[in-house]
Amino acid sequence: MYRSFRQVIELLDSQGKLIRVSKPVDPRFEMPALMKALEDDSKAFIFENVKGSDYKAVGGLFTSMSRYGLIFNDDGSEEFTYEQAGQKVMGGIANPIPYNNVESGPVIENVLTGSDIDLTSLPAPTFFELDTGPFLTAAVGIFKKPNGTINVGFYRCLIIDSQNLLINASGLSDLRKAYAWHKENEQEMRVAMVLGAPPALLMAAASKSPDDISELDVAGGINGDAIDVIFGPESGLPIPVDCEMAFETIVDLDNMVENTLGEFGAQYGTEHAPMCKVTSMLKRNDAMFYTLMAGRAKEHNNLGYLTVYGIIKGLEQKIKETYSNVRNLTVHFDTKIGPLMHLVIAIKKNDDDEPGRMIKELFEMNMGFFNLAWMAKRIIIVDDDVDPNDMDDVEWATWTRIGRAEKLHTFSNFVTWEVDRAALPDGTSVRIGVDATKDMDYADDLVKPTIPNEDEIKLKDYL
Ligand SMILES: Cc1cc2nc3c(=O)[nH]c(=O)nc-3n(C[C@H](O)[C@H](O)[C@H](O)COP(=O)(O)O)c2cc1C
Repeated sequence: MYRSFRQVIELLDSQGKLIRVSKPVDPRFEMPALMKALEDDSKAFIFENVKGSDYKAVGGLFTSMSRYGLIFNDDGSEEFTYEQAGQKVMGGIANPIPYNNVESGPVIENVLTGSDIDLTSLPAPTFFELDTGPFLTAAVGIFKKPNGTINVGFYRCLIIDSQNLLINASGLSDLRKAYAWHKENEQEMRVAMVLGAPPALLMAAASKSPDDISELDVAGGINGDAIDVIFGPESGLPIPVDCEMAFETIVDLDNMVENTLGEFGAQYGTEHAPMCKVTSMLKRNDAMFYTLMAGRAKEHNNLGYLTVYGIIKGLEQKIKETYSNVRNLTVHFDTKIGPLMHLVIAIKKNDDDEPGRMIKELFEMNMGFFNLAWMAKRIIIVDDDVDPNDMDDVEWATWTRIGRAEKLHTFSNFVTWEVDRAALPDGTSVRIGVDATKDMDYADDLVKPTIPNEDEIKLKDYL
């Protein structure tokens, strides 16, 4: 089974996990401050009275990975792991179900065009002090790629005025590639932005699908049931009928505008995005505005984990296949240690230079359209008695097994993903390799104290 966006909200409400705020709230700073507090308290919310708007603002739905259980668990329990969420998406990619065209549905209950469209009437928050303005943070964008496949991804949008917004595309996105192709080939480009999409589509939109598989179909695969769509009256793009609202836009690639928003790595990100003219607004009766806390926020970063899940799995496999000395490894993607990956690799080494050689080779490893250094900030190599998943153990090894400065490696010439805001004007930023393995000559002096059979000796058997 699976639940729709509205059913998840109803379930959270019935479980007492949804707070309704009826007092007037200013979408500029006041609402984000409350959203942050609600997220820390794991509460979903509906702001019923946002100043300057007749729409209710809903959010805080998936603030932990376990919350994805609300979509799939019959009993409505919050039981779901990171791994299960990642596997759901991989399952959808392996067995996509094509989207299904229907004639009617909630989102076309109201179709607005021309001057009836007013984006400034949305309760869109301005999150941080230096943000350029109000952002849509929970909108998924739908467009046709040059190869004809329908693409869906999360793209943050800055509201410019009543009928114009900017749609941001990162260097990792297919949207950035599509912008470049349309500009180069002087083709008109349309993007539909959707708020309150089916939860499976939110998961699929966050993830990276192969080039010829549509995230709409991946979402069908996740649900085991096709996503119903109507074709947008202006763009012809497939729009899920069961969503809160949608905006069809025409993209002006000759008008790129700078805009700034507090990012998932807790730094400001300044991007250039094209001005997009909204040609229609579709919305269900009593449509709610879906919003996600920006910055280093749990809901955003859980979805971000789905973005990199497939990349991480592929990377782990490739490293294990390439190096027979690898015993265990973990790719840490956790914004507490920044927006880039940190790799910890446990090896059984053959000589003291091996970890240093591996670090350099790994940073240079070809990952398709980027090398590993583009997304990875630090590689730590440990011995196979250290658990790469346990950063306490890794820290311990780092500070107890390094005697020589040559075991610390720094690289200054790697081009970095733009979310690494410490990058220099030439697009590079430092990469760090740490060889935290024992030097062979001193290996006997650096043995970790262990208790034989510790795991089998249970205190409860003695009480
Ligand atoms: C909440 C959230 C917001 C995001 N915002 C953006 C964004 O503004 N621009 C962007 O290119 N990617 C953004 N991403 C990442 C993309 O949605 C993600 O990389 C996705 O896989 C891109 O799809 P694509 O490669 O099919 O374009 C965001 C992800 C999440 C979870």
